[in-house]
Amino acid sequence: MNAMLTPRIESRLPQVGTTIFTVMSALAQEVGAVNLGQGFPDFDCDPALLDHVTAAMREGLNQYPPMTGVPVLRQRVADKIEALYGRRYDANTEITITAGATQAILTAVLCCVHPGDEVIVLEPCYDSYAPNIELAGGQVVRVPLTPGTFRPDFTRIAAALSPRTRLVMVNSPHNPSATVWTGAEMQQLAELLAPTQALLLSDEVYEHMVYDGLPHVSASSVPGLAERAFVVSSFGKTYHVTGWKVGTVAAPASLSAEFRKVHQFNVFTVNTPVQHALARYMADPAPYVELAAFYQRKRDLFLDGLKATRLRPLHTQGSYFQLVDYSAVNSLPEAEFCQWLTREVGVAAIPVSAFYEGGFEQRLARLCFAKKDDTLRQALQRLQKL
Ligand SMILES: Cc1ncc(COP(=O)(O)O)c(C=O)c1O
Repeated sequence: MNAMLTPRIESRLPQVGTTIFTVMSALAQEVGAVNLGQGFPDFDCDPALLDHVTAAMREGLNQYPPMTGVPVLRQRVADKIEALYGRRYDANTEITITAGATQAILTAVLCCVHPGDEVIVLEPCYDSYAPNIELAGGQVVRVPLTPGTFRPDFTRIAAALSPRTRLVMVNSPHNPSATVWTGAEMQQLAELLAPTQALLLSDEVYEHMVYDGLPHVSASSVPGLAERAFVVSSFGKTYHVTGWKVGTVAAPASLSAEFRKVHQFNVFTVNTPVQHALARYMADPAPYVELAAFYQRKRDLFLDGLKATRLRPLHTQGSYFQLVDYSAVNSLPEAEFCQWLTREVGVAAIPVSAFYEGGFEQRLARLCFAKKDDTLRQALQRLQKL
């Protein structure tokens, strides 16, 4: 191809390059490292779920579904939210099925953020938030979570709110810090937003991975938040099928109506047989109800092994991530440490600095424990030699 003949475009996202997740996964593969970097399971889903997909395909459920999602799946999602969090969403007007949480978040941002509007994100945060806001022409307003504990700092959030704040984006259980917001913190957020016109995007993709008997406090359960919130979740995380890219958005009818206008011309619809399969699988709540115990056991296995290393584990309350402080090992910056760990020790990790715009350094690395026990043991053996 003669590149000279291709017209040049001005990038909509000039800051964006290859993500750290791609870089670390490629490096892990190149050097044969155990990949605890990117957040996805290395084990398969329940075969019953696969059977449901095959059955749906064989039944001829292969054409476009309704734009908002297959009705039976929307119904199941509404039922689940009511059973777990006590709020009834109307399956017809308030639940939309999306192509994963990533599309849900972009669509929510595009449907409400106008050029010049401000959107508050709490750093460290998932890497799609800021580019999504920039695509909408919005201003990213970054507020740090408290260094060390990663708890929300309401004084700083209050200071960041302005008449131009259109949206606040929060995430609990949190990637990368593995903290979980308390009911009191959600309440404080509700009080802070009460006098404002700001909407909320509550990213709850790890809603079923909360440990030690802690509750997941969904924005849908908090009066004052639910009325202004897009509540986002992901089947990929819950059912060990991150590659299927199916998610949900629950939001009041007026917000859902605007969301759907953008969704309609963005993806229009989401994979039909997979939606039917998920609806059938959801008839039994056990897989999502038991997910916390499943991952808590893995967290504990991993944590136990980490005690015999020079890495200092931080407390994981939720999600499938474990942060480790490596100050006792060396003083490399986080990105260099993770590259070194991958090459020299054979375990891939993600630098927490990658979740901050300015690359804030705390000597922390993120490891993912959504892996087979054998994979975790192999990684631990290597880490214990540090
Ligand atoms: C906090 C957070 N939000 C959203 C997503 C994206 O979810 P999905 O794969 O359903 O698009 C992820 C995936 O890692 C995540 O960690």
